Amino acid sequence: MSIILRQKLRAPWLLKQICYSSSAKSSGDAAATAKTIPKNLLEDKQTANLQKENGAVFDKRPFKLHLEKDKTYSWCLCGKSKSQPLCDGTHKNEFLKIKLRPIRFKVEKTGDYWLCNCKHTTHRPFCDGTHKQPDIQSAVR
Ligand code: FES
Repeated sequence: MSIILRQKLRAPWLLKQICYSSSAKSSGDAAATAKTIPKNLLEDKQTANLQKENGAVFDKRPFKLHLEKDKTYSWCLCGKSKSQPLCDGTHKNEFLKIKLRPIRFKVEKTGDYWLCNCKHTTHRPFCDGTHKQPDIQSAVR
């Protein structure tokens, strides 16, 4: 049995990662990859999305979370929340001097979603594979 298959049995999230990667590579088309990444229904309705900076790398892989349609969530962008990948209000602590604000978001359908934990995705708050880049993988947490 290959190492990847053995790891898959212990870590179901790895299977999704492998499938996500292989489907994106087989199409060889960036547009096809973008279709697989969900859309934040609040993206155009808030200014927090316009923040150019990324937060601190919290983890080097995404986190799967069950999300409900019509519910509003706040994704931690600063990387300092203790309720990752969601915001717990840590950014409001004036002693930490954090300028980044959380990203409010809604999903189209109730289901499981991969949320970015490296805080560098270009499709906030959803993982788009950016965490695979060497600079993210070599980041010290
Ligand atoms: S965890 Fe995948 S892009 Fe951040």
